[in-house]
Amino acid sequence: GRPLVVAIDGPSGSGKSSVSKEVARRLRLAYLDTGAMYRAVTWDCLDRELGLGDSALVEASARALDLELSTSADFEYVAVRGQDVTAAIREPRISASVSAVATNLGVRDELIRRQRALIAAHGRRMVVEGRDITTVVARDAEVRLLLTASEEARMRRRGLQLGGTQTAEQLVQQVVERDARDSTVASFTQAADGVYTVDSSDLDFEETVSAVLDVVQAAV
Ligand code: C5P
Repeated sequence: GRPLVVAIDGPSGSGKSSVSKEVARRLRLAYLDTGAMYRAVTWDCLDRELGLGDSALVEASARALDLELSTSADFEYVAVRGQDVTAAIREPRISASVSAVATNLGVRDELIRRQRALIAAHGRRMVVEGRDITTVVARDAEVRLLLTASEEARMRRRGLQLGGTQTAEQLVQQVVERDARDSTVASFTQAADGVYTVDSSDLDFEETVSAVLDVVQAAV
């Protein structure tokens, strides 16, 4: 088919991942979770007990990283040096450290290069989600979209996802802090020129998927 890159940015808890996967399934496109790549670099650094403050060392790790990543919405798989880290990269200790790795510009340069190579390898038929996809990684995407949600809606969803093991206050604190740190490298709270915004605050999952598919329809 002809190229169709759907670039989706947004903060954590906006429903970005589940919505992006469903959109990929419906459109029969490949799917790339770029956040998983930053998480994999973080897992690797922690596993090898590197100080995350040593930016040259962290960059070198990212450049050399032996990373395997599924690009299907139906099958989640991430491996570092042949070790399955699909579940491990979602642990709170990774979420707590990932921004420190993501603010390393050498790491970003390397991962952006790999992301663009993956998009090309899939014939530019892919849903790509993250924080800097509409503005940096795939500025030339056929469809560029920012998925937002009110802070209240995002906390509600995060709370459900984590199964309520943490207090609401802890959750708010963690998510707000991570977004604040992430905002220093990529602006994903405001849509750049030519980027559509879908606000999912008052939409359920199905409605959000429909709204995104409508934007795709209108754009192609
Ligand atoms: O999307 P997810 O919450 O899994 O992303 C994890 C982290 O990876 C983010 O908090 C951010 O620090 C980083 N990230 C990024 N750029 C992207 C995707 C993720 O900096 N395109």
